[in-house]
Amino acid sequence: MSATSETKRPVPPDIRARKGGTPLVMLTAYTTPVARLVDPHCDMVLVGDSVGMVLHGLPSTLGVTMEMMILHGQAVARGLDRAMMVVDMPFGSYEEGPDQAFRNAARLMSETGAGAVKLEGGAHMAPTIGFLTQRGIPVMAHIGLTPQAVNTLGGYRVQGRGEDADRIRHDAGAVAAAGAFSVVLEKVPDALSAEITRAVDIPTVGIGASASCDGQVLVVDDMLGLFTAFRPKFVKRYAELGEEADRAIAAYAAEVRARTFPGPEHVFGEEPQRK
Ligand code: KIV
Repeated sequence: MSATSETKRPVPPDIRARKGGTPLVMLTAYTTPVARLVDPHCDMVLVGDSVGMVLHGLPSTLGVTMEMMILHGQAVARGLDRAMMVVDMPFGSYEEGPDQAFRNAARLMSETGAGAVKLEGGAHMAPTIGFLTQRGIPVMAHIGLTPQAVNTLGGYRVQGRGEDADRIRHDAGAVAAAGAFSVVLEKVPDALSAEITRAVDIPTVGIGASASCDGQVLVVDDMLGLFTAFRPKFVKRYAELGEEADRAIAAYAAEVRARTFPGPEHVFGEEPQRK
């Protein structure tokens, strides 16, 4: 099953059942028009906390709030018919413990209509993942490079090289055993990602991980060439919309200055015509 061949919106058990099957397609969206664009092509749409950096100009995801995630989640929900929406739990909304996590995850689900939440962290978050899933909140886990921990990880570095591989293996096993329906592997070496994908019984979704993962996710503004502040190696640009937009805006500015815009077809006479 894929979002392009079925009208039924997938739910977390459908995603879980895709383990080892046709790769899962996931992109981010933060607004209604972009949600409408990605919806026909994706199984899952992520309202990522990357929204803070991509749309709000924040230096990291640490400043993203519950209110921002709810507002963008509501906007994205209005643009989705087929794909399942996953909303990120922002930094500070779940790390205190299962009770705080449940309170905020329940808000995200009920106020946005999301099918699941995503939270960052491996073995240390397993008790929270178990608590949420046992209470009706499907959780996508996110391990490897967890951007909310950029300050303790010492930068946006590849995770799991050499002896560190055991930590990532352990994280993957722990979140799967705790009940996560899927796990994002970010910036985890290719061979380790492939090994983890074989080892766990839930779908892995890679970003800077491996083509062997059960699915892939990218930030839509990265792959469209709209967010250009920096470009991680794992981003493939499928379009250069930023350059196209720059050309269009420059043309508009030149025409305004030359008084060639608006033209006769853009202005109104005395006779009522079209609006
Ligand atoms: O916030 C986000 O966009 C993410 C993806 C990069 C996985 O977490």
